[in-house]
Amino acid sequence: MAEDFIVTPWEVKGEIDYDKLVERFGTQLVSQEILDRLEKHASPLHHLIRRGIIYSHRDFNRILDDYEKGNGFFLYTGRGPSGDTHLGHILPWILTKWLQDNFKVKFYFQLTDDEKFMFDDGLTREDTKKYAYENMLDVIALGFDPKLTKIFLDTELIHTLYPIAIDVARRINFSKVRAVFGFDSSHNIGSIFYTSMQAVPCFLESVLEGRNIACLIPCGIDQDPHFRIARDVAPLLGYYKPALLHNKLLPSLAGGDKMSASLPHTSVFTTDQPDDVRKKIVNAFTGGRVSVEEQKKLGANPDICTVYHYYMYFFMPEDDELRDIYLKCKGGEILCGECKQILIEKINGFLKEHQQKREEAKDRIEDFILRD
Ligand code: TRP
Repeated sequence: MAEDFIVTPWEVKGEIDYDKLVERFGTQLVSQEILDRLEKHASPLHHLIRRGIIYSHRDFNRILDDYEKGNGFFLYTGRGPSGDTHLGHILPWILTKWLQDNFKVKFYFQLTDDEKFMFDDGLTREDTKKYAYENMLDVIALGFDPKLTKIFLDTELIHTLYPIAIDVARRINFSKVRAVFGFDSSHNIGSIFYTSMQAVPCFLESVLEGRNIACLIPCGIDQDPHFRIARDVAPLLGYYKPALLHNKLLPSLAGGDKMSASLPHTSVFTTDQPDDVRKKIVNAFTGGRVSVEEQKKLGANPDICTVYHYYMYFFMPEDDELRDIYLKCKGGEILCGECKQILIEKINGFLKEHQQKREEAKDRIEDFILRD
């Protein structure tokens, strides 16, 4: 059988089997035991965790050990600024915010303007920098604590980052990145070096504080290959291996794959206007039947429905409400048109508030940004 699905940091294709992915990547499923342990420190658990959207990890137990011993840890995630922010991007940021609120820990956010310049021929350095400053507003708008949160662009913190990056780069050979990322001799040499830049923030707090502090990275499972490499290198440099919490990817509104910014109508962007949202959701893929009569008689399938996924991931944090709509859908008591209408209102309500905070964030950049 041909490859049924592909997940790499730069390409996501096909219907993802998340259990298989855990096997392929060699990560661990988030177990009930971990949930119980986490709940002792952070209760109630976030709906993304309760619903198994944050479903896989590396060494999360060790982070809890360290925390319980009083050694602390810090958070790290990031974004490759290749365009506007969509809801799929903010998923791990929402989890990160919840972790920061509950554990009161430091958080580094990396904007890889260098990465997107290397990997996308169509973008200039000015473009990736501009998007970095746009994307940053979405991070700030989510309400992170400015005293504990630092955001940076790789090109603007390079004096600090570069010494750590070359420490990392010297321990990675080409055959390794070729095997992990599938590079060949046509790739530019910046792409080949890049993973060392994404590794740097894993160690940044330890370097700046002058003692070893554990790093926890909430991210999409597609980013795991970078951190597999960072974890191999960490002990060679005398640091802790970074731990990870992986989320499933938000499905595209067309059904299937991760949301792709290259097909704008299949994602909801944080800057979308109410009318954009309406059009996108009206055209979204659902689990509905071919006719109203059939749907009333046989019910629809929420498990494959993108509208239902949006409720589950973002817009129905109350479990009772989510269960209710699930049952109504299955029982044919609600039709797709009505269900889409509810979602459109919820998304537009969220975006109205988010866009307001995003505007306010423009005056707060200096409270968060870290430069050389
Ligand atoms: N490579 C990521 C992207 O393309 C950006 C990124 C940098 C990142 N550091 C990270 C993502 C840490 C998650 C965690 O979006």
